[in-house]
Amino acid sequence: MMDIVRSVADLRGRVAGWRRAGLRVGLVPTMGALHRGHLSLVAAAREWGADRVVASVFVNPTQFGPNEDFARYPRQEEQDAALLEGAGCALLFSPTVAAMYPDGFATTVTVSGVADGLCGTVRPGHFAGVATVVTKLLLQALPDVAVFGEKDYQQLAVIRRFVRDLDIPVAVLGAPTLREADGLAMSSRNAYMTAEQRAVAPTLQRVLQLVADGLRAGGAASVLCAQATASLLAAGFGPVDYVEIRDADTLAPVETLDRPVRILAAARLGATRLIDNIGVSPSAG
Ligand code: PAJ
Repeated sequence: MMDIVRSVADLRGRVAGWRRAGLRVGLVPTMGALHRGHLSLVAAAREWGADRVVASVFVNPTQFGPNEDFARYPRQEEQDAALLEGAGCALLFSPTVAAMYPDGFATTVTVSGVADGLCGTVRPGHFAGVATVVTKLLLQALPDVAVFGEKDYQQLAVIRRFVRDLDIPVAVLGAPTLREADGLAMSSRNAYMTAEQRAVAPTLQRVLQLVADGLRAGGAASVLCAQATASLLAAGFGPVDYVEIRDADTLAPVETLDRPVRILAAARLGATRLIDNIGVSPSAG
């Protein structure tokens, strides 16, 4: 049986035991309401060479804005624990808010550059909340590797940045986005949608593919992104927070396909905010 621990001391005790036994440890941070995308991160940690994988489930209040869905974010620990155990996870770390943010907590990790723009503009404070909690989780568990999804591409870039900047001795591994059969990126928030919205949702991914096609055909980023925004609005999305083309590594804006790029979009569909992104590289030769 997979154990569940709720205190940092218990987490450290378990990880230290594995370390002493010469085992390599992987960490998969999540907010729960798990789907196959999350479970693929456990598999990626195993493929990387982790002998034991720890998952964390913590709905982190500091990364939600005042008008966001913290209160109604789905919480289903028993189901999550069963899924993690089935995926080969060795331990679940599921702390309380009071354990993570005790009275007097006063420290925030903020990242500039990659955390600015895109979701950073629309969700002020979000990436500081993510960076703070992920810093804590990495230092609490001190794994050999931590795995994050490309689904949240800017988040992955922010995490890579502060791990490097703060000399946190953990390898960061990015894993590809798992999608439903119709192309919609798997997300815990997909459960918020009505049947009609769910039918429209895959348009987001199709529009990104059209931008990729346009880029490969030599199109200009600004024109392609404006067309994509118009297509999303016509399909029933709105508002569209952004459709942008960025350098795949630095997230600096780019205008043409002269290097590997990432096309990123965020748009609201009713009460649900969907994000997605895909990569495109110049063809060789
Ligand atoms: P959450 O949204 O639960 O996602 C946990 C991890 O699963 C993230 O690394 C995310 O990128 C990845 N993920 C989500 N959907 C995916 C999909 N369809 N395919 C592959 N991976 C996917 O992201 C967070 O939680 C939080 O911000 C967290 C990093 C845990 C900090 O609180």
